[in-house]
Amino acid sequence: MKHILIIGAGAIGAYLVRELHAMYPQAKMSCIDRAEFVEAARKRLRGIAGDHVEVFESVAAVPSGVELAVECGGHAAVTQHGEACLDAGYDLLVASVGALADQALHDRIVAAAKRNDRKLLIPAGAVAGMDGLAAARLAGIDRVRYTSRKLPLAWKGTHAEKLCDLGAVTVSTEFLKTDARQAATLFPQNANVAATIALAGVGFERTEVSLNADPSAKGNTHLVEVEGPCGTMRIELSNKPFPDNPKTSMLAGLSLLRVIRNRSEAVQV
Ligand SMILES: NC(=O)c1ccc[n+]([C@@H]2O[C@H](COP(=O)([O-])OP(=O)(O)OC[C@H]3O[C@@H](n4cnc5c(N)ncnc54)[C@H](O)[C@@H]3O)[C@@H](O)[C@H]2O)c1
Repeated sequence: MKHILIIGAGAIGAYLVRELHAMYPQAKMSCIDRAEFVEAARKRLRGIAGDHVEVFESVAAVPSGVELAVECGGHAAVTQHGEACLDAGYDLLVASVGALADQALHDRIVAAAKRNDRKLLIPAGAVAGMDGLAAARLAGIDRVRYTSRKLPLAWKGTHAEKLCDLGAVTVSTEFLKTDARQAATLFPQNANVAATIALAGVGFERTEVSLNADPSAKGNTHLVEVEGPCGTMRIELSNKPFPDNPKTSMLAGLSLLRVIRNRSEAVQV
């Protein structure tokens, strides 16, 4: 790994800079962040990786030689920089997979990958078992169900407030049963996991989603259930948050790091 581009210098971006600098001390890292945040990001990241890291406002300003672009800047960052990365000839690893629930954006990004003979890489992120789901898809899948459970107050400030009285929930309550497209659109904070499952499995319309306010939930839990000719799967996670951002799962940063490392390791697992 000689030169990597990281889009978004927040919790995940800074974590990646720290880990990659430790793993590949000679590697150059370019970062992109919002114009108003460039100076702060430069100061923060220089404190981690010294002059091995530089921060820019756009893909066009990044020096040549990038081997991989990693988006961890949110859905707006995918919209703003996704195609530009692929047009610049970089493979693109996206953390904000939920952005791809917008079919028009999805189609533009996939078209950019194809016309540049580059890859759009979708990590498992905060969920697990996506290798098994994507493999099962090759034999056809009958059913994929994703269930999200959080404490009632963890749904505060979201569309859930319009669907149930969160303050009055005393037993586990399913407040929305829908498909992955609508879940990703109405609940951007759940969009990444729902979209990842949809893209790995049976698509946005056929992926069933159940959102629950559960007073007994242990943190932020995800359950993925799959039925098909090759058998059944039940994948359950209870994720711990990232120290720098309680809305992000630690596993999401680790999952990106795994994909990046795999590109330069002799053995890829
Ligand atoms: N796939 C998953 O399971 C999963 C899990 C958690 C988070 N995520 C995604 O990862 C993203 C980053 O998470 P985080 O905890 O680091 O967030 P964060 O809020 O700590 O950091 C986001 C950074 O991106 C920057 N940014 C915002 N808009 C941008 C733009 N248009 N261009 C460039 N930079 C921009 C912000 O200034 C900030 O520095 C989240 O927004 C989320 O979409 C995905």
